Amino acid sequence: MKFDTPATTNPIDQLKVVGKPIDRIDGPLKTTGTAPYAYERHDVAPNQAYGYVVGSAIPKGRVNAVHVQEAMGAPGVLAIVSTLNVPQLGLGRMNTARLFGGAEIQHYHQAVAVVVAETFEQARAAAMLVQVDYAGAPGKYDLAQEAPNASPVGGSSGEGSSAGPVDRVGNFDAAFASAVVKLDQTYTTPDETHAMMEPFATVAAWDGDKLTVWTSNQMVAWGKGDLAKTLDIPEANVRLVSPFIGGGFGGKLFVRADVALAAIGARAAKRPVKLALTRPMIANNTTHRPATIQRIRIGAQPDGAITAIAHESTSGNLPKGKPETAVAQTKLLYGGANRLTSMRLAVLDLPEGNSMRAPGEAPGLMALEIAMDEMAEKLGMDPIEFRIKNDTQVDPEKPDRPFSQRQLVQCLRQGAERFGWKNRNPKPGQVQDGRWLVGMGVAAGFRNNQLTKSAARVRLETDGKVTVETDMTDIGTGTYTIIAQTAAEMMGLPMNRVVVKLGDSDYPVSAGSGGQWGANNSTAGVFAASIKLRETVAGRLGFNSADAVFADGRVRSGNRDAALADAARDGALVAEDGIEYGDLAKKYQQSTFAGHFVEVGVDSFTGETRVRRMLAVCAAGRILNPKSARSQVIGAMTMGVGAALMEELAVDTKRGFFVNHDLAGYEVPVHADIPYQEVVFLDETDPISSPMKAKGVGELGLCGVGAAVANAVYNATGVRVRDYPLTLDKLIDQLPQVA
Ligand code: MOS
Repeated sequence: MKFDTPATTNPIDQLKVVGKPIDRIDGPLKTTGTAPYAYERHDVAPNQAYGYVVGSAIPKGRVNAVHVQEAMGAPGVLAIVSTLNVPQLGLGRMNTARLFGGAEIQHYHQAVAVVVAETFEQARAAAMLVQVDYAGAPGKYDLAQEAPNASPVGGSSGEGSSAGPVDRVGNFDAAFASAVVKLDQTYTTPDETHAMMEPFATVAAWDGDKLTVWTSNQMVAWGKGDLAKTLDIPEANVRLVSPFIGGGFGGKLFVRADVALAAIGARAAKRPVKLALTRPMIANNTTHRPATIQRIRIGAQPDGAITAIAHESTSGNLPKGKPETAVAQTKLLYGGANRLTSMRLAVLDLPEGNSMRAPGEAPGLMALEIAMDEMAEKLGMDPIEFRIKNDTQVDPEKPDRPFSQRQLVQCLRQGAERFGWKNRNPKPGQVQDGRWLVGMGVAAGFRNNQLTKSAARVRLETDGKVTVETDMTDIGTGTYTIIAQTAAEMMGLPMNRVVVKLGDSDYPVSAGSGGQWGANNSTAGVFAASIKLRETVAGRLGFNSADAVFADGRVRSGNRDAALADAARDGALVAEDGIEYGDLAKKYQQSTFAGHFVEVGVDSFTGETRVRRMLAVCAAGRILNPKSARSQVIGAMTMGVGAALMEELAVDTKRGFFVNHDLAGYEVPVHADIPYQEVVFLDETDPISSPMKAKGVGELGLCGVGAAVANAVYNATGVRVRDYPLTLDKLIDQLPQVA
């Protein structure tokens, strides 16, 4: 189904099932521990052996020799494959660093050997006996030091937010020079790791030259293609299965070493192999969110109208890596006739930087939305009024291109009302509650709505149930449930008559999960397949498909009426179709908006920041399931607190690696760190986005939160921190005298 004109009324608008806060249908599997995660697929292939990865102990250089003799003699060992035993593996389309093979070391903990043994413990013990001779080479690990050498690079993140190397509209320099009120500040965000709960894990089994992997991956079709490319085997010989994912956050958009080495280990051992990357391997072996240095300049008239806005970001990556697209939102969020965005990329020899939790906008808004707060203060304006003053209903770079929907102003106004913004003291450092300095902060939330084609197969079974099959993934987001809701609405069935099967490359290719594009696109694909199935059903029943009504398990047309199941009496009916998009996205900018509000208390003695209240008001198209959408948003807000207050990979700039590479050293928020979170969804349907009239919402819950926390800390203390995370050492010397 080609979607190239705005959606009109369709069966989804009935909202009998879609739009309801239905419990996740995979909930019982999760809460009883019976959802089959990759490392627990004991049943899928008999006689599984265990793989263990040896990671490079140097960040850059060459492997001269790998001595495996002693390890081979260790108990239970079945096979050892070293990086010198295999030709350099192919480079997947989505990868920057190679996963394995050949002598070159590109980053610390890059895989140099895989040990296969009867048990995990035996594989691990033998791995400790593998001796590797390295020849180290000098590398570059310090972004601040390399930033002056960075070159202009355009590009898009793995998730589509993009910018050119230098994009200009009007004349920024002249407009900024003559602006009455100006801000010129630099902000930094650190390297971060995904820290998803489920590690990278794979069971791999060969049947002749055919390979099946049961793994944990957000993008099944990308994974299948890149695994074939990595191993240099035909794509048709690869099956990738990923029905449950215990968090990915962008780290599992790609094929990683667990998949490649499980496959290589299985081939060597002639056994199915199960392999997980251990927690301490993950931060350096896989990908991370690159650190940024962001300079923002804003010039405005005394009335607050922005006349000039510039956002320039420098990040680092391996040679041929992508920049962190931290300037992307600044192209679209506020008006202003004279604009400049630019990205520079420094070559670093740290592990690969790639997508993590709203790449681009998440770190970009952490800087931009502090800058807006600082600018409002310079102007003597309320930060909400300053943002509203500079709202735009069109793409500021292409003013003939309107937003399909843009309710940022409503998000901010409703949020202010609900949060009690009028009680905020605009003068910082004034409000005290016992030993706590208390402050409120706000930030705009922004993330694009991305369209990508997505297909599904829908089958009416002989018992009247409907089965949906698509290679879509559920990364904890609620995909199973919203897909069931979509099929139930379309076919006129209750939820318990729909079966959803996901995450298998044998099913039709979907959008996959990333960039908050999963919900809208994958359900639109199910919509398309369901329209086809409705036609097939109507035809089988001899009804006119145009006026057939599917409701309550029955099909009605004129004065004729039949049970839906009757259509499949002589055999199941199958329909397969997908959604594809025309050029509506060229004519309309499609984005999602939020107002993020945070209240913090900062301990006046220790500088410790505690979040006291959070609110997100979101405008993100039709909300397909308010319960799962709210779960997405509160999870994302939690990540925003992490980014603001604690998450940071510490770089050893001499030895070239991330030091705190486990969950003891890399801190993320726990329950005790998170207060009551409120989420409001504004009424919105967006007929430009898809027949579902929905948009993405998950990452919107993160984008802006970090700055709202930072702005609240400033309001509480009067200390402006521009380097994330806002740990207490950055506050304590400057806190008001209390004793
Ligand atoms: Mo992404 S960072 O996988 O939504």
